[in-house]
Amino acid sequence: MKMTKNNEDFFDEKKPWSVIKDELLGCYLKPYFSKILATQRPVFYVDAFAGKGIFLDGNPGSPLIALEIISKVLSITNFRKPIIKSCLIELNHASDLQENVNKYKDVTVIVGKYEENIEQQLQGKQSQNVFLYIDPYGVKSLHFSIFKKLPVKSLHSIEMLINFNSFGFIREACSAMNVKFDIGDLEDIVEIDNVINSSNKPIDDLSEVAGGDYWKEIIEGYKKGIYDGYEAEKRFSDKYCEKLREQFNYVLNMPIRLKMGQRPKYRMIHATNHAQGCVLMNDNMYKRWEALQNLQNQGQISMLLLEDVENQSINKTEMQKEILELMKSHREYVDLNTFHAEFVSKYGVRFSTSDICTELEKLYNANKLEVKRHPELTSKGKPSKFWTTSKDKTVKLRCNNEKS
Ligand SMILES: C[S@@+](CC[C@H](N)C(=O)[O-])C[C@H]1O[C@@H](n2cnc3c(N)ncnc32)[C@H](O)[C@@H]1O
Repeated sequence: MKMTKNNEDFFDEKKPWSVIKDELLGCYLKPYFSKILATQRPVFYVDAFAGKGIFLDGNPGSPLIALEIISKVLSITNFRKPIIKSCLIELNHASDLQENVNKYKDVTVIVGKYEENIEQQLQGKQSQNVFLYIDPYGVKSLHFSIFKKLPVKSLHSIEMLINFNSFGFIREACSAMNVKFDIGDLEDIVEIDNVINSSNKPIDDLSEVAGGDYWKEIIEGYKKGIYDGYEAEKRFSDKYCEKLREQFNYVLNMPIRLKMGQRPKYRMIHATNHAQGCVLMNDNMYKRWEALQNLQNQGQISMLLLEDVENQSINKTEMQKEILELMKSHREYVDLNTFHAEFVSKYGVRFSTSDICTELEKLYNANKLEVKRHPELTSKGKPSKFWTTSKDKTVKLRCNNEKS
C-alpha cells in the first residue's frame, strides 16, 4: 500500500482512501446537480486537481465520476435549457486526461496549475452556480489567499469540497519548527509533495496555506507535550475551518479513517454559503460514516450511532440543549434548512437531518419550540405536520420563550 514519495504510482491502482473520497464526491454530486438546476442558472463544475481521468486498473477518477453524473442528470432533467459546463485543471497528466474525457460535451481541460488558473476561470461567471472540487496530493498549492479572492458575492452559489491533508501540514510544520514528528502510521497514506520542505521560506509558505500563523502555537503545544500529534491535527483543522467560516457561511469537515478505531488520515472539508448544500453534504457525510462503520464492524456488535465522525460519543439529551441554545440566538422565526445548516456547521457531522427533526419534534411536543408551516393545513383541512421543505412547503421555528 506504500506510495512512492513522488506519487508516480498514484494512478496505477485506485487505493481505498481514494474510493472513500470518490464516494463522498459522487454521492453528493447526484442530488447537487439535480437540485441546483432548479435555479435555472448555469452551473460551472471545476475539478482543480483532476488527474488522469481513469486509473490504470480501469477505475474512474474524479473527472469521469462527475462527467458521468452530469450526463445522466442532463438526460433526465425536466428543467428547460439546463447548462452544466466543466473545467478540469491538471498540471502533469493533461493529455491523458483530455483523451479520457473526449467523449463528454462542454468540458475544458486546462493544462497548468490550479493556483495560477482558478481566478481567471471564475471570471465572467457572475450569477452562476460554481462547484469546486479540490483534491491535491498535499497542501502546498492550497493558498488560503485564493479562497479570499473567490468572487463569492457575485456568484449565485459556490460550494467547495477539499481533500485537506491536515496531517501532511502538521508534519511539514513540525519540520519547519524543528520539532520531532512522531506519527509513524501515516507513512502509507500521506501523499507527499515536499516542496514546502525544500522551500527556503517554509514558515511563510505554511502560513499562506493556513491563512495565518495560528498553527505555530499549536505546534508549540505539541512540542511541549501538552497534547499528542492527533490532538494537534484536530486543533489545527478546527482553526482552519474557523478561518474558512470568515469566507463561507457553512463549513463541515469529516475525518477519514480506513479502519474502526484507527486515527484519521486526512479530512474532507465542505464549504458553502448555501444552507441546502450544507444540509445535503451533512447527510451525505453521515451516510458515508454509517457505511464505513458497517464495513469496519464486519458483523460485530454495532457501534452505530454511538460515536460521531470524530469518535466522540453521541448524547441525544445534550443535542436538545444544543438545539435550544442555537435557536435562542435567533430572535425571529428561522427557516428549517438554515437552522439545520447552522446546527451541523457549529456542532459537526453527528446526526442526519431526519434525526435532528425527531428531536425538534420532541421539543415542539414539549412546548419548547414554536413551529410555523406553510401551508398550515393539509388538503383534508388538518394541521400540517411535515418536517421537510420544498418550493411550496416551508417550516419556520423559534423558541417558545415562555417555556424554554
Ligand atoms: C490526488 S491527484 C488527483 C486525483 C483525482 N482527483 C482523481 O480522483 O483521479 C492530484 C493531481 O493533481 C495534479 N497536480 C499537482 N500539482 C498541481 C497543481 N498545482 N495544479 C493542478 N494540478 C496539480 C497531479 O498531477 C495529480 O494528477
